[in-house]
Amino acid sequence: MKLLVTGGAGFIGSNFIRYWLEQHPEDDIVNLDALTYAGNPENLKGIDESRYSFVHGDIRNPEDVSRAMEGVDVVVHFAAESHVDRSIDGGRVFLETNVIGTFNLLEEVRRREKQIKRFHHISTDEVFGSLELDEARRFDERSPHDARSPYSASKVGAEQLVRAFCHTHDLLFTISNCSNNYGPYHHPEKLIPLMITHALQDKSLPVYGDGLNVRDWIHVTDHCRGIEAILEKGRVGETYCLGGDSEVPNIEVVKAILRHLDKPETLISYVEDRKGHDRRYAIDSAKARRELGWQPQYTFETGLKHTVEWFLANRDWWEPLLNNN
Ligand SMILES: NC(=O)c1ccc[n+]([C@@H]2O[C@H](COP(=O)([O-])OP(=O)(O)OC[C@H]3O[C@@H](n4cnc5c(N)ncnc54)[C@H](O)[C@@H]3O)[C@@H](O)[C@H]2O)c1
Repeated sequence: MKLLVTGGAGFIGSNFIRYWLEQHPEDDIVNLDALTYAGNPENLKGIDESRYSFVHGDIRNPEDVSRAMEGVDVVVHFAAESHVDRSIDGGRVFLETNVIGTFNLLEEVRRREKQIKRFHHISTDEVFGSLELDEARRFDERSPHDARSPYSASKVGAEQLVRAFCHTHDLLFTISNCSNNYGPYHHPEKLIPLMITHALQDKSLPVYGDGLNVRDWIHVTDHCRGIEAILEKGRVGETYCLGGDSEVPNIEVVKAILRHLDKPETLISYVEDRKGHDRRYAIDSAKARRELGWQPQYTFETGLKHTVEWFLANRDWWEPLLNNN
C-alpha cells in the first residue's frame, strides 16, 4: 500500500510516518509538506528512505496536490496551521491551508475516485468548544461543533467539508478528533515543549491566567496507533474520538515537568490569559475502544517522563528552533 501523508514534516505527521514505516514494512509513504515554520525535515532523520519520498509542495496549490497523489492508495491528512495563538494574531492562513487546502485534497480524491481507497482526515477536540471544570460531560462523536478560536473554526470548516463532500460524491472517508498531543518532535512553541525547554534554560515558565485550564493529554504514539486502528478497522464514513483519559490542569503539567527536571517552582510566572481561552477539553473514546479495540498505552505520568527524557537527549533538535518563526 502507498500512503500520502500531508504535513508529514510536522509534529504528529512525522511521528506517524516513523510509526507506520516501522509497523508496516511492506508499505511506502509519500509526504507532501510545504515546510512552513512548523515543518522540519530533521523530524524524519534516520527513517527508511527506500520506502519514503518527499514532495515539497503546498496543499493550497491543486497542482502540488495532484502530483503528490500519483499512485497513492490512502491519504492521511495532517497538514494544517495548528497554533491557536498564531490564529488569534492573524487567521487568514488558517482558512487558506485548513479549509481551502482540504478542499483541494478532496477535489483530487474525487478525480481519483477509483484509486483512493480511504481519505482519513485529522481533526481536533477543539471543534467541540469548551467544557466547564465541574461538569461531568466529555466530548464524543455526537457533540455539536462550537468553534471558539479562528484555529478551531478553520478545523470545523475542514471537517464539515470532508463529511459533506464525501457524502455528496460517495467517497471513502474517516475522521478522527483527537485531544492534545505531546511527545518527541513537538515544536517548542506548544505548552509542554515550551515549558521543558524553558526549564532546561532556567528561563521563566509563562502560565496563562490562573493555570487551571484543563486539557486531556495523549501521547503522540497513542494517537498514531489510533489512526492505524481506524485505517484498519474503522467503518467508512465514521468519526472516532481519541483521547488520553488524562485530564490535567496546565499548572499541574508545569509542576510535573519541573519535578522531572529537578527545577524550582519559582521559575513559574503567571501571565495575562490567552484571549477567549477555552477552559476544559475532555474526550470520551468509548466508541474507538469498543469498535477498534484501541486504548491509550501511556498514562500521563509515563508519557511525560518519556517526553522529558527525549527533550533532554535531543537538545540538538530543539535548540535551533528556539528563535525560528
Ligand atoms: N497537536 C495537537 O495536539 C493536535 C491535536 C488534535 C489534532 N491535531 C491536528 O493534527 C494535525 C497535525 O498537527 P501538528 O501538531 O502535527 O501540527 P504542526 O504545526 O506541527 O505541523 C503541521 C505540518 O503541516 C505543514 N503545512 C502547513 N501548511 C501547509 C500547507 N499549506 N501545505 C502543505 N503542508 C503544510 C507544516 O509544514 C507542518 O509540517 C493538524 O491537522 C492539527 O489540527 C493536532
